[in-house]
Amino acid sequence: MKTRSEKSALRDLAEVLYPEDSAEPILARPVRGALMEWLTEIWAERELLDVGLTPRRRALFYGPPGTGKTTLAHHLAARLGLPMVIARADQMIDSYVGSTSQNIAKLFDAVRASDEPSVLFLDEFDSLGMKRMQARQGSESERNHSVNTVLQRIDAHTGTLIAATNRADDLDQAVWRRFEIQIEIALPGPIERRHILARYLKPYQLPEDSLATLADAFGGSSPALIRQWCEGLKRQMIVGPRAGWDMNRDRVIERLIASIAPHPDLPQPRLWSKGVLDPAVRGLVWPLERTQ
Ligand SMILES: Nc1ncnc2c1ncn2[C@@H]1O[C@H](COP(=O)(O)OP(=O)(O)OP(=O)(O)O)[C@@H](O)[C@H]1O
Ligand SMILES: [Mg+2]
Repeated sequence: MKTRSEKSALRDLAEVLYPEDSAEPILARPVRGALMEWLTEIWAERELLDVGLTPRRRALFYGPPGTGKTTLAHHLAARLGLPMVIARADQMIDSYVGSTSQNIAKLFDAVRASDEPSVLFLDEFDSLGMKRMQARQGSESERNHSVNTVLQRIDAHTGTLIAATNRADDLDQAVWRRFEIQIEIALPGPIERRHILARYLKPYQLPEDSLATLADAFGGSSPALIRQWCEGLKRQMIVGPRAGWDMNRDRVIERLIASIAPHPDLPQPRLWSKGVLDPAVRGLVWPLERTQ
């Protein structure tokens, strides 16, 4: 049974996501292969135990923002039929001496004491698993202490654990090694971009060649940006006529590009540099066709 303080620790430090709300991210084939291998291993736990092996339990997802790390962890938990307890590592950091380590301990204890099994997901993990330094100041020795706590807690944790970061370089090597699987979730290639566009444009549909040209124009984009663009386009298709906006193709795309942009640190996709002169826009069948 969970004690009241363990229940409130889970509530304060984490959020629970359930299988029914999950969605499968669109990923490159090698990544899908690696994930399928891991899932199969967990499903085969009993057979593995029979030969003295245990399935790997700890994975690290790293890669740029908006590539689907959180979505993927949630999807994997759902495939295992488990809820996902999601804790943001940066929210566990507390400047009060010893508090960060206490938060880490509280979270792991609460997950272990929980009545139902779950997948523990540590988001923004770099903030907890940062490289340790020669402690010259109190704050550094405090941080080293919390990294050590994380290491011990990861070692002792018996359930499935996934951590994610978009700053893999900042991770302590000992922390990195604790994970039996490290999977890079990179920016999508042209094939994945095409699938992502098709998914988020639905129920609007583009001919294959038009979709492929659009996928080229999105080179260097994260899936999150593609999704935002597609949803912006659909919103304009519905709201624009009601609001009396100019629904000419180039005007619609201009408004869209002006209101959605990749992060300044990220590469600028061709669509943003060429705008309505981009071949992908010139080739866009207008008005968009809708399947339902
Ligand atoms: N590979 C993908 N396929 C389909 N949709 C995706 C994919 N990646 C991201 N998305 C969409 O983009 C949004 C952001 O995704 P998510 O939060 O999973 O990214 P993340 O990698 O965890 O980002 P961060 O590093 O900022 O935490 C979600 O709405 C998700 O549906
Ligand atoms: Mg995330």
